[in-house]
Amino acid sequence: MDFSRKLVTWYRANARDLPWRRTSNPYAIWVSEVMLQQTQVATVVPYFENFLARFPSRESLAGAHEQEVLAVWQGLGYYRRAKSLCLASKQAAPSTAEGLTQLPGIGRYTSRAIASMAFGERVACVDGNVRRVICRFFGRNMTDRECESRSLDLMANSKPGEWNQAVMELGATVCLPKSPRCVSCPLKKGCIATSEGSQGSLPRSRATHAVILQRHLCVCPIAAGEVGIRRIPEGEWWASMWEFPRVRLGADENMEDALLRLGYPNATSIGTHAHVVTKH
Ligand code: ADE
Repeated sequence: MDFSRKLVTWYRANARDLPWRRTSNPYAIWVSEVMLQQTQVATVVPYFENFLARFPSRESLAGAHEQEVLAVWQGLGYYRRAKSLCLASKQAAPSTAEGLTQLPGIGRYTSRAIASMAFGERVACVDGNVRRVICRFFGRNMTDRECESRSLDLMANSKPGEWNQAVMELGATVCLPKSPRCVSCPLKKGCIATSEGSQGSLPRSRATHAVILQRHLCVCPIAAGEVGIRRIPEGEWWASMWEFPRVRLGADENMEDALLRLGYPNATSIGTHAHVVTKH
């Protein structure tokens, strides 16, 4: 059996039952792919179901106020994605990968994922999981573009959407970054990394970004049983979300000075909290 058939057969028997895999509705697939851009599958599932219940069609999303959409998105992070969805929903959706990249918030990977799954376009999409599978299978480090072309070759006569999901699924559940489960892998016979034992060093990790430490101070104003929050202005991180009044502390600024700047000199401390922003 060729590799394409082996992988698809494995996928049909082992795929996780995910709500966006039960639909061929391009709008639902688009929403799922945008949510999955920077968020793990398990986190996305309830948000996806909620979102589709609240905004069941592109038209319903196009008619919604951005604030309503952000409220449903709240907690999922990377809020620019929700804003881009709102903007994009106002246009008729193109049905090719090329056309889809014209929409806000849709890059190369997402356009190819949507076009293959929703419209059957013969294109391969490469995210971190796919890259790992393809680099290991061919036993060498490759760019995303090279992986796309290798994955397209392997796709053969498989349905493009099913193939892409199958490679992703293998990367997410078997061809894991550390401790890959090669004994259960449908591609183990042809996999060069397995035969050479080089799974651990493939693919090479990309350069990581420097970590920047920031300190912010916020107050929780309470008066007459009500809690004060503010809407974050445009141009700042998390623009148009709601938060407790907050300022970024200067390099040597102390809490007292920052409290004065916020207009709450008499506030008492509740505590400190560390929060990691992966990408902004
Ligand atoms: N990550 C990105 N797209 C995905 C999909 N359709 N299924 C599972 N994980 C994904």
